[in-house]
Amino acid sequence: MKEKIELLRKKLNQYNYEYHVLDNPTISDLDYDKLLRELIDLETQYPEYDDPNSPTHKVGGQVLDSFDKVEHKRPMLSLGNVFNYEELKSFCEKIEQEVGNVEYVAECKIDGLAMSVTYLHGQFSQAVTRGDGVVGEDVSANVRTVKSLPMKIDYDQDLEIRGEIYMPKKSFEKVNKEREENGEELFANCRNAAAGSIRQLDSKVAAKRGLDGFWYHLPDGETYGFDNHYDSLMWMKSLGFKVNEMYSRKFQNADEIWSFIEELTQIRYDLPYDIDGVVIKVNSYLTQRQLGFTSRTPKWAVAYKFPAEEKETLLEDIFVTVGRTGKITPNAQLKQVFLAGTKVSFAQLHNEDMIKDKDIRIGDIVVVRKAGDIIPEVVRSVPEKRNGTQVPYVFPKTCPVCGRVIVRDPKEAHYFCINPDCPARVVESIAHFASRDCMNIDGLGAKKVEAFHQMGWLNSIEDIYQISKYETEICETSGFGEKSYRNLLQAIENSKQNSLEKLINGLGIRQVGDKAAKILAQRFGTMDALMNATFDELKEVRDIGPITAQGILDFFMDEGNRAMIEHLREAGLNMEAAQTKTEESFFTGKKVVVTGTLANYGRKEVQALLEQLGAVVSGSVSAKTDLVIYGESAGSKLDKARKLNVSVMSEAEFEEKLAERETL
Ligand code: IVH
Repeated sequence: MKEKIELLRKKLNQYNYEYHVLDNPTISDLDYDKLLRELIDLETQYPEYDDPNSPTHKVGGQVLDSFDKVEHKRPMLSLGNVFNYEELKSFCEKIEQEVGNVEYVAECKIDGLAMSVTYLHGQFSQAVTRGDGVVGEDVSANVRTVKSLPMKIDYDQDLEIRGEIYMPKKSFEKVNKEREENGEELFANCRNAAAGSIRQLDSKVAAKRGLDGFWYHLPDGETYGFDNHYDSLMWMKSLGFKVNEMYSRKFQNADEIWSFIEELTQIRYDLPYDIDGVVIKVNSYLTQRQLGFTSRTPKWAVAYKFPAEEKETLLEDIFVTVGRTGKITPNAQLKQVFLAGTKVSFAQLHNEDMIKDKDIRIGDIVVVRKAGDIIPEVVRSVPEKRNGTQVPYVFPKTCPVCGRVIVRDPKEAHYFCINPDCPARVVESIAHFASRDCMNIDGLGAKKVEAFHQMGWLNSIEDIYQISKYETEICETSGFGEKSYRNLLQAIENSKQNSLEKLINGLGIRQVGDKAAKILAQRFGTMDALMNATFDELKEVRDIGPITAQGILDFFMDEGNRAMIEHLREAGLNMEAAQTKTEESFFTGKKVVVTGTLANYGRKEVQALLEQLGAVVSGSVSAKTDLVIYGESAGSKLDKARKLNVSVMSEAEFEEKLAERETL
């Protein structure tokens, strides 16, 4: 039976390779699925022959708590940059002055995440992110799911290859479409999407993201018997790795390389993957060694970075939108242009001051640019192209949705609609509450919320928990059958058990996002404690500044908000942090004294934190003290600790210990 299983795996690996690397399948999807099913059945029947590198595991399965840190055998370097022809020319001249004429290889600079992958005895063994170049994270479980990456290779010695994990444009569009439907925040670009997917702890999720990889570097290539980079690329290709052969080419000088750059500039948006430049490498390993390194980057390679694409177009109109906090944002309605691979009809205008400072008028020709964001920005107007019909924009005095007067926050550059019943605010805040990062109520995306609000069934967050009052109406509405309604009810019911931090995040308190919500939940432990916290207590919390503290205070001073919390409580929502019990850690059981002023923690906060970690915090140092944590201007207690040979720890070291625990 073992032979049969092995044979099936071999066949499936070959079909995988033909499909995902060669882009040339030799078997129908149906037949492939049949074979895969057969293998799954056999592996279930004979678990003793299971193999983590079996093609059946390309769908993921492993769920981790966190990623292990791994030190790279050789550091993963970054490259210096050039931005134009002159800089490229001078990069080449320097090399040629030092070692004479050389051959270069220029390649697409893939916009993804650098990855190091090792094979032991021909078997995939580990994939590690670049991290800080010295230490990266073990993301093997996720990289395993990359369909084009072979799990077995025909090479018995140990091997490390490096390259880029990226998200193809097609996968990116699909992933973002799904996120939009679920009311989740969209990924700004392919690179962010790839990074977000590789950081998934559940490899099944990563497997669904359609990641891919190009392999472009064989560290210490000479030890495998090659004398140049290009030959090592071809060898990697022959082992079954996906190598970007089409756009990895040899050149003799800067001018030739520049033509290649111009060619890629033309076609980059037609490629099925994102590139952000071109990498230029000296081909010969011997010459690479002669040239060596500067402090951080090789002298034998450089990255040419494309400029962010800019285009001119007509600014047809300016309109404002209202966010869940009531923030009024101006947007530009543009005559559609094709920019950085997508059709663009809107751009960000940030705020009133920006429109005035840049003298942007309706009817202007404007320059738009797509930086890293989903929504492009207006860089400037082109006043030379005015014909007298342009009109300066007058910022509205009233909310475009509810019509009430809007006010400018003197501390911010933005106007706000302060009407808590403004339909735009209501819809946005309910949708935020229900979104994936908050209460994660499936089936209650932004569009549904808006529709339900228009029908009068959802006027506030607490209405979500009363939705069954409208059962008949909802089920009779087209597009929302009995089954979807049941699922929605179940999702709403489940959300009651969510963590306190998700609930806090969902409330939409100004300045409080998921990170602050987590810190607040940890620090206060219950909704009541948070509601009754004073300004000083809030301000003392790590990462909570005075503006956020005031935002929290204002939120809970509002009668309506307090009433909402009570309604949510009556509906049965969890309002306590699960983790009030102590956590096993380095500090557990230790007698700890804190002295001096810590930069990032209030005194009470650090005490609460240490206690949660199982420490006993005391005020005075004695021979029984295990540890003294000291901050700025620590005095006699620190001296005493040193005299008594008690361990001491600076705030930075303390944070390091905390970080270790957070990544455990
Ligand atoms: S070569 C020493 N080749 O760009 C060799 N890098 O700043 C180092 N990248 O961190 C890398 N495509 O993530 C190389 N064809 C390519 C590349 C490439 C993308 C990334 C890589 C690296 C960064 C360089």
